[in-house]
Amino acid sequence: MDFVEELKSRVDIVGVIGEKVRLKKAGANRYQGLCPFHQEKTPSFSVHAAKQFYYCFGCQAKGDVIRFVQELEGIPFFEALKSLADRNGIPMPKRSQYADEDSRQREALYQMHELAQENFRAGLAGPAGEIARAYLARRGVRPETIEQFGLGYSDRNGRSLLRLLEQRGFTALQMEPSGLVRRRDDGSFYDYFRNRLMFPIHSESGKIIGFGGRALADEDNPKYLNSPETPIYKKSHVLYNLHRAKEAIRKEERAVLVEGYMDVIGVTAAGFRPVVASCGTALTELQVRALKRHTEKIIVNFDPDAAGAKAAERSISLLLDEGLQVRILQLDADLDPDEYCKERGAAAYQKQLDGAKGYFYWLADRARAKFDMKTTEGPVEVLKFLLPAVQRVHDRLERMAIANAVAGYIGVDRGLVLDSFLKNVSDRKESTIRQPKEPVRVDEKGLLSVLLSGVNGRELLLADLEKLDILDRLATRRIYQAVLGIHSSGANLTFDAVSSRLEPEDQSALAEAVLSEEVEGREITLEYGRQCLESLRRSDDQGRCRDLKVRIREVERAGNTAEVMRLLKELQSLERTAGGKI
Ligand code: UTP
Ligand code: MN
Repeated sequence: MDFVEELKSRVDIVGVIGEKVRLKKAGANRYQGLCPFHQEKTPSFSVHAAKQFYYCFGCQAKGDVIRFVQELEGIPFFEALKSLADRNGIPMPKRSQYADEDSRQREALYQMHELAQENFRAGLAGPAGEIARAYLARRGVRPETIEQFGLGYSDRNGRSLLRLLEQRGFTALQMEPSGLVRRRDDGSFYDYFRNRLMFPIHSESGKIIGFGGRALADEDNPKYLNSPETPIYKKSHVLYNLHRAKEAIRKEERAVLVEGYMDVIGVTAAGFRPVVASCGTALTELQVRALKRHTEKIIVNFDPDAAGAKAAERSISLLLDEGLQVRILQLDADLDPDEYCKERGAAAYQKQLDGAKGYFYWLADRARAKFDMKTTEGPVEVLKFLLPAVQRVHDRLERMAIANAVAGYIGVDRGLVLDSFLKNVSDRKESTIRQPKEPVRVDEKGLLSVLLSGVNGRELLLADLEKLDILDRLATRRIYQAVLGIHSSGANLTFDAVSSRLEPEDQSALAEAVLSEEVEGREITLEYGRQCLESLRRSDDQGRCRDLKVRIREVERAGNTAEVMRLLKELQSLERTAGGKI
């Protein structure tokens, strides 16, 4: 067996995808969840355990387990292959035919980051690390926390990592794009991070892909120096600490979003594990999607200063746009989350977390403080202030509920709030009401499954199929037309070939048909295809019999006895072939 096939057969696709997307069992072999590849509120993403593939009815993303890892992590084929093999303890073929130049380069980057991490950790433990150890002790970071977060120290001499990388045989060509060293004009290299407290940054699957380095002296600028973008580090994709926090995020069904590395560390050390931060950039849509794969409930806990409030506002809009439920935790006494945990203790922080206000209450509070509610304009101003946020809520019912709650909260007339909220949103495009779907018969589904399988001789079924009148009445008629079209053009009949010829709605119907439970229990053989075809043919005959009977009654009424006799004969012979089961 080809290695790729072997790997796929040994890796559990539900397990792999389930680590990244919350999946619920939806059938014997089918699991469902929110699609990680597009924004949605109701799950249209399916994973099929037996067929070992995923499919999104919403955005048509589909593929096998390797494709999933590639798409989600944004990595090339070989790397996805290797990552799956590594995680499942499957040895890769020695002289790998899959590695291309790109993948080898990325592999080298991962190795260099591992080495850098060893180097920084040794640095913190060694004599030069004294200054960093003292700093951490002053800030109350315990040894086990240092260990847990892999904190380190980069030497001030600017050569120690460079030397290590050279010793291990990395070439200038490999080192330059790593972001770990920099090139001088004369071509020589030096360490990028010098005399800094080092925070390793991991990908969601737990690989070190970059670093943040905090200055230890006040005069050192910037306060945090971060790895530049590299082929393995894309800032807009990564959330600091997600790989450690995701399990707790799922279990507690909430995530706490903070601003800084030190906040993540302080809050975690206080015993709250579901905490993440963006890495020195404003929150991005990709980061929000990464969070959403694990929970829909976010508590935003930014610094209490003006910059924090601004960042919070930006992040909140983004979170709401992606359909998340947002609560805001604003700490009193001008403390950031790290300081708060240290000064007030874990129990106090827990209370704050549990009491975090729903987004609209928080916003209403801000509005109340801003406008004088005793004047007549006050409430109107407040409503105006809240309106844009309410309009972001996609769901009409949810909007009404918010309007209702907000009215009570700011103490204005419910009617006024509803009026103003609904008037302004009435021109929004509501999701169009879907046509009820035509039911798809089991034999239609079964025959499609056989036709799109690799079963030998399946083309033989097509000639008979083409003759059936019922074809034009089936819910899947457009799919069958595509099948026949591809066949007559001589092209290979595959799921992808058919799917690519269909409109999105029919693409979904196709996937639903071949993934359906009814077909699931069946062995896909030519014989099964014949049975399905036969069942369709019987319905076809039954339909024709019905038509004939109507026609006979008409002709009888018109008194055309000869025609009645002719039609009756036709009916009899039809009933015989239809098996008399009419
Ligand atoms: P903070 O200044 O709040 O840092 O910046 P912090 O993590 O709380 O650290 P301490 O407590 O002051 O030591 C928040 C985040 O913004 C990014 C970092 O990711 C930091 O954790 N940042 C800040 C930078 O990238 N560069 C900077 O110069 C400053
Ligand atoms: Mn801080």
